[in-house]
Amino acid sequence: MAHRITLIPGDGIGPEVSAAAVRALEAAGVAIEWELAECNEKLIKETGQSIPKTVIDSLERTRVGLKGPVTTPVAGGFQSVNVALRKRLDLYANVRPVRTLPGLRTRFADLKLDMIIFRENTEDLYSGIEHEVVNDVVTSLKVITRKASVRIARAAFEYARLHHRKKVTSVHKANIMKLSDGLFLKCCREVGAEYPEIAYNELIVDNASMQMVSKPMQFDVLVMPNLYGDIMSDLAAGLVGGLGVVPGANIGDSHAVFEAVHGSAPDIAGRGLANPTAIMMSSVMMLRHLHEMKAADRLQDAIETVYAEGRVLTPDVGGAATTEQFTSEVIAQLKP
Ligand code: NAI
Repeated sequence: MAHRITLIPGDGIGPEVSAAAVRALEAAGVAIEWELAECNEKLIKETGQSIPKTVIDSLERTRVGLKGPVTTPVAGGFQSVNVALRKRLDLYANVRPVRTLPGLRTRFADLKLDMIIFRENTEDLYSGIEHEVVNDVVTSLKVITRKASVRIARAAFEYARLHHRKKVTSVHKANIMKLSDGLFLKCCREVGAEYPEIAYNELIVDNASMQMVSKPMQFDVLVMPNLYGDIMSDLAAGLVGGLGVVPGANIGDSHAVFEAVHGSAPDIAGRGLANPTAIMMSSVMMLRHLHEMKAADRLQDAIETVYAEGRVLTPDVGGAATTEQFTSEVIAQLKP
């Protein structure tokens, strides 16, 4: 039976890269019935809603989505689409695997990185609770709860156990934000105590950022609150070839939305320059979520073969191919 999946192309490079992912998924032989749900900056401005009801209704039906990036209008009172979606469907775990692709020449080409970042996805400074105290004085509330901290810590440790990972590192700033990040750390320690076979350590976010650049090989599974996760995952992406090659998933107890780490990249939109690797690898994560393991492996292998050969790559990773040429090459490399 075909899987019913919500497809949100987004805007900017979103429609280009999501079309590439749809082509690759079809070629991988997975039967999918797509429910198309539009969500983009124009629609948000027209309707005044951060997230159109049609998108939520579709995801309530299908429970699984593949999403391209959406431009968030700056200022003007609009909540970010992504924040709205993650909170609305309680997609509390943002999962971002950061791996070195074979053959990809980066500044750090000699490193073989393989880490996975678990970013809490529903609270912290992204709660959007802001307040103008008096004219020209504004506060933003950083919300950390036991419930959200425990479940993201559990997601990280469960992943580590299931995938035979050796270490979980939590990233925090509890030396300054003693109550909020202090609670986050306390929850990580409590959950970690239930997984004695997995090593656990803690790093303050500024030091963690430095170590991410100077000694990234030490990282295995990482868990952190929302803001640090947002920044550290882009930093880690920079080590393995940039935003074009890092996938992601937003997972809740009953829904999951798969999307690349990158945004709508207005600087290159509509020019066939976008790298669809990130959303294709997000699709691989989606296939695993749907228990389509063989198709997931085939698609991942095909992507890795294209990188290992290095002939047909997009400009962001040193090639000259268009989005479509890269996609066709991935499809050509799919093993029967
Ligand atoms: P961005 O990720 O769109 O772009 C940053 C840089 O990376 C740009 O130079 C861009 O050309 C490059 N880049 C990104 N993805 C690429 C790809 N697949 N292939 C080749 N190059 C790629 O970040 P930016 O410019 O800060 O954000 C643009 C818009 O996207 C904003 O409105 C932001 O709110 C939104 N955004 C949406 C996200 C989502 O829907 N999940 C996530 C992040 C940002």
